[in-house]
Amino acid sequence: MSQQRGQWSGRLGFILAAAGSAVGLGNLWKFPYITLENNGGAFVLVYIGAVILVGLPIMFAEVLLGRRAQKDPVGTFRLLSAGKPGASLWPGVGILGVITGFIILSYYSVVAGWTIRYIIMALSGQLGELATNADANVLGNFFGDFLGNSTEQAVYYTLFMGATIGVVYFGVANGIERVAKILVPVLFIILLALTAYSTTTSGFREALHFLFRPNFSELTTGSILEALGHSFFTLSLGMGAMLTYGSYMRKQDSIPKAVVTISILDTVIAILACIIMFSIIFTMQAIQPDFEVGKSSTILFTTLPLVFYKLPGGGFISAVFYLLVAFAALTSTISLMEVVSSFAIDEFKWSRKRAVLTMGSSIFVFGLLSAVSLGGNETLSGINLIGRESTAGVFGTLDYLATNWLLPLGGLLIALFVGWILGRAETQEELEEGHGLLVSYSTWRFLIKFVAPLAVGAIIVSVILGAEYQ
Ligand code: PFF
Repeated sequence: MSQQRGQWSGRLGFILAAAGSAVGLGNLWKFPYITLENNGGAFVLVYIGAVILVGLPIMFAEVLLGRRAQKDPVGTFRLLSAGKPGASLWPGVGILGVITGFIILSYYSVVAGWTIRYIIMALSGQLGELATNADANVLGNFFGDFLGNSTEQAVYYTLFMGATIGVVYFGVANGIERVAKILVPVLFIILLALTAYSTTTSGFREALHFLFRPNFSELTTGSILEALGHSFFTLSLGMGAMLTYGSYMRKQDSIPKAVVTISILDTVIAILACIIMFSIIFTMQAIQPDFEVGKSSTILFTTLPLVFYKLPGGGFISAVFYLLVAFAALTSTISLMEVVSSFAIDEFKWSRKRAVLTMGSSIFVFGLLSAVSLGGNETLSGINLIGRESTAGVFGTLDYLATNWLLPLGGLLIALFVGWILGRAETQEELEEGHGLLVSYSTWRFLIKFVAPLAVGAIIVSVILGAEYQ
């Protein structure tokens, strides 16, 4: 078989698709609540440091691997490790990535599906249903009931998976790139519009203080590890997503320029999301001092809609906001689907259609377990392999496994492979192709050989020792 491999139509195609992969629920759902949990300021600085010192070098590594081999993650490691130490083992890193993509896509789409329900609620003026009564600031049980309703969970999850499979089915340039070229700019415009709105709220200044006034005495080892772990998740690293997208990159385009642009976009968007959310939350607190912010992981789906409901014009603004979240999530689920599909296309020599439909439906069936494990099915929600409340149920267990174990492990192995197994010549040539290094080659080489593996190793050791960092 010699199917023509997909390729981005140009430099912008790769940048927008990869930025779309990076910007997702990690930026809009997870980053704001972990920033709240870790008291802003110093945590935000550590996070930015983690992106620069660990995230960036690993993203360079992943993209260069993909572009050099022009293959799926498994094929990439097989090709590039040939004749090198451990040649028979390295393809295992690719397999680990494909399995991780399979797992993350299955539960990530469940959360992504919730946004559809919230857009509908916002448009039909129903956000107030989240309160116990329209005037109370006490959260009712709408969200809990929604999670426990297996039919609803399955419906929204199905819609989201359907959209993901639909886009990837049409291929690299005609599906993924085309959608990213529309959704990523739209997403950015919505975000800027919402940021402009947030500057008019009275909580805006307080939000900036909270985010940018570091208080290092509040920083714990746990927050440092959390910032590091999150820099992985948010940049889509450690499972071959950037590798796969890199494999469709043209030789004449510069990897460093693209990678730096993507990381800046991702970080700016995470911070803008915080500014928007915190401004309106603090505004609410000023109006109603007893308003409970609730530092929980569900803030995006519980506190926020309630605040939106009470602010003037909140119905429309919240509809736009949840649309933003949905778009951001879709461009990320697409990249997860593409990792698994490209594996089947390159390794089994399947046609794209066959690969996407077969893999997509397998992931879909597996993800149904997560969708009904949130309260709808007692057996599935009762599973608790790790034994902590936050990791309960199939959903919680898979999220814990993927973010705390699989992504850091994949990232560590990728850093070790590129830093210690690949030669200087191979990596330098690939990074300099398309010129424009931005960072000196030796700095990058030092970061990928020593800093990144040590930092990621620290996350893994802390997880083994049972540190509560996520
Ligand atoms: N980066 C995505 C986010 O921040 O939501 C999540 C993600 C997508 C992780 C793709 C890993 C991945 F391969």
